[in-house]
Amino acid sequence: MEYDIRGLEVSTSSKTAAQKLDLAVADYLDYGTNAGSLVKEALGEDADCALAQCYRGYLLMMLENRAVFPKIQEILDKFSEGGPDLNPRERLHVKALQGWVKGDLLNACLAWEQILEKYPLDLMALKLHHTMAFYTGRSNVLRSVVSGVLGEWDGNTPGYSNVQGMYAYALEECGDYEQAERWGREAAERNPEDLWAIHSVAHVMEMQGRTQEGTKWLDFSPEKWASKNMFKAHVWWHAALFNIAERDYHSAIQLFDNELSSINSDKYIDVSNQAALLKRLEIAGVDVGDRWDLLAEHSATRINDHILPFRDAHFCLALAAKGNFGVARKHIDSMAVFARSGEGWTAEATKTTLIPLCEAMLAYEAGEYAKACDLLWPIRNELAPIGGSLAQRDLFTQILIDAAVKSGRLATARNLLSERVARFPSSKPSWSQYARVLSDLGETQRAKRAATHSGA
Ligand SMILES: [Fe+2]
Repeated sequence: MEYDIRGLEVSTSSKTAAQKLDLAVADYLDYGTNAGSLVKEALGEDADCALAQCYRGYLLMMLENRAVFPKIQEILDKFSEGGPDLNPRERLHVKALQGWVKGDLLNACLAWEQILEKYPLDLMALKLHHTMAFYTGRSNVLRSVVSGVLGEWDGNTPGYSNVQGMYAYALEECGDYEQAERWGREAAERNPEDLWAIHSVAHVMEMQGRTQEGTKWLDFSPEKWASKNMFKAHVWWHAALFNIAERDYHSAIQLFDNELSSINSDKYIDVSNQAALLKRLEIAGVDVGDRWDLLAEHSATRINDHILPFRDAHFCLALAAKGNFGVARKHIDSMAVFARSGEGWTAEATKTTLIPLCEAMLAYEAGEYAKACDLLWPIRNELAPIGGSLAQRDLFTQILIDAAVKSGRLATARNLLSERVARFPSSKPSWSQYARVLSDLGETQRAKRAATHSGA
């Protein structure tokens, strides 16, 4: 029996294996690129180390590709055949992995919550719970679980800043911007390597419309993040959102070309960031050229995966935006089959939320704007189950507003834009669009007042 860096028991007789796992967790939490090889090294020291096997399964799951599922099943089969010795914490990790691979994200989260009740210093369980609570859109759960363990951590516990960064993000998604920024800044100061903490503060600035501050906050050189994994593309995505809000479309496109699309390979393409950025630029009136082509090509290879509804939504968007409606339709058909036969959260969210959303996006991209409005309007405030952040899901509101304008439903557009400028008072493009719609409705005075906020 060995112990991890926070004093938790690890079923292995190899001190080196336990140390490698500590390094893997630290690297994973800081978005490095070495977690996989460190887990492999731990397994090289002790092939029967249950926690190392579980971590390998987790990291394979993070690839979000059904092609690797047989490898994960092999790991799980070893456990069910009475393979490695397991302590109670490790048994719960196996249970979480089993739930995750089945798409039963709620039960996976429950297993991590059970771990954290007894072992609040299990940083990997906390991070995975955080990630999957995020991908199930449950902000209050995000906050309650991190705050629930917070009392057991302090500045002397290794990884404390990572917990602070998670807490900052959870507070932000729950709308407590002041506290979120305080915790996020402290976390980033304590550990400048933690992209999640930096990202949490960027979210606060996004939600508060502090676009110029946001641009400065994310003013990092790409070299500084050379050793970071693909999550950095998401942080650059936030930087591009600040650019768009400032109407600096050139910088946003540059970020797309230099930092977003160049990072991911066809094996793990982060379609969500790229599709969401291109669509925002198109809604703003920017010609994005042939940038959808590769995204649609990669998305077409993933139409039967259904690992996260959030990813599926963006695969479908990329296919439809490129005009590949036949493949997009096959994608939705495949979602319907999965929703009928799958288990747990992923299948349920696919049925209730994802399919109607994708139908709406298809209609929108096909130029059937009134139909897109009819489909999106009733679900516009109910999209959380597909996962992602408030900032990410805001794209679908932007699509609805654009559909309302293009279908001539100006009163609908006016109300949506009124709501939007109340929520994002510094968003110049929103004020500008609001002014245009008011003017088209003949509300001249209000249009003039709105235009004064647009910076035009
Ligand atoms: Fe984000």
